[in-house]
Amino acid sequence: MSGRKKPLVAVCRQIPEAGLKLLRTRCTVKLHSGDVLTARQLKAFVKGADAILTLLTDKVDAELLVAAGPQLKIIANYAVGFDNLDLEAIARQGLVATNTPGQLTDSVAEHSLALLLATSRRIVEADQFVRAGKYQQWEPLLFWGQPLLGRTLGLVGSGRIGAALGLIAHRGLRMRILYHDVCSCPDLERHAGASRVGLRELLRRSDVVSLHLPLLPSTRHLIGRAELALMKPESILINTARGPVVDETALTEALTEKRIFAAALDVFEHEPTIAAALRRLPNVVLTPHIASATRDAREQMSEMAARNILAVLSGKPAVNLIPLPKIT
Ligand code: GLV
Ligand code: GLV
Repeated sequence: MSGRKKPLVAVCRQIPEAGLKLLRTRCTVKLHSGDVLTARQLKAFVKGADAILTLLTDKVDAELLVAAGPQLKIIANYAVGFDNLDLEAIARQGLVATNTPGQLTDSVAEHSLALLLATSRRIVEADQFVRAGKYQQWEPLLFWGQPLLGRTLGLVGSGRIGAALGLIAHRGLRMRILYHDVCSCPDLERHAGASRVGLRELLRRSDVVSLHLPLLPSTRHLIGRAELALMKPESILINTARGPVVDETALTEALTEKRIFAAALDVFEHEPTIAAALRRLPNVVLTPHIASATRDAREQMSEMAARNILAVLSGKPAVNLIPLPKIT
C-alpha cells in the first residue's frame, strides 16, 4: 500500500466503528450512512474504489464491478452468507471476495434458540394477550405450548451455526439431534450424539426443524409444500438462514391450516416485504433479520471485513476468502 495516494474503500452502509477505524489507518473511507442504495446509486457510489465493503442488501454483479473500475481488488461482504454476490462475475474480473464467519455463530445460534422457545411456549402471543388487557383470570387451558426437553431437533445444515445450536439444545434441553447435510459432522455426532439422516426422514421425525444452510440454486424452496406435509402437526420450523430456502406461500398455508404447530422466521423470501397473510398469523414469530445482532458479533464482523480489505490491498491473502468458481 505504498505510493502517493491512499487506497479508496467504499463502505455501502454504516457499520460499527471498529472496522472503519482500522480502515482509516491506511485508507480513505467513503461511507454511505443512509438507507440501502439502489442498484443505480450503488454503481455511482463505488466508482474508483479499490475495495468495496458490501452488506447483504447490496447486489454485486458484473455491472457493478465494471462500474467500480479496473483498480478494484476485493469485495468484502459484511455477512457470513454471500448469496448477494455473483461469484462467477467476481472470479471473471480476477477479484477476491470475503465474508465474516466467526463470532456471529453464537449470536445466530442463540437467536435460533430464542425463536425456538418463543414459538414452543407462545411467548409473543401471550405477551400481546396481556398487553391487550385480556388476562382476566388464571386459565387451566390457556396458551398451551409444546415441551422441548428430550424432544427431537432436526438441523438442516450442520455448519458452524447449526452445530452450535445442536450442542446448546442437546446439553441444555437434552434434545435428540438429527441433521441433514452434504457432509458428515463428526463433532456434532461425538458431542451431541447426533445422527445424519436424509431430509425426508429428518422432517418426519423432528419436533423442531431449524434451517442453517446457505441459499444456493439447489436450496431454493428446499422446504416447500411436499416437505411441510412430512412434518408432524405439533412441530415447529425455525429459519434464521435465508428466506428463499422456504416456500413462504406453502408455509403460510401450512400455518393457516395448523398442519404444523408454529414457525419462526428471521429471514423472508422477499425481504423486507412480508405478505399480510403471514403477518396476520398468530402461530408465527417474525424478527427483522437480527440473528447476528449483538454488539460482539457485529463489531467483530466489522473488524473482520476491514482486516480482509487491508490484507488484500497490501498484497497479502485475505483470511476469510470465499471460494470462487473456476473460470474456464
Ligand atoms: C446474515 O444474515 C449473515 O449472513 O451474516
Ligand atoms: C401454577 O402457577 C401452579 O402453581 O401450578
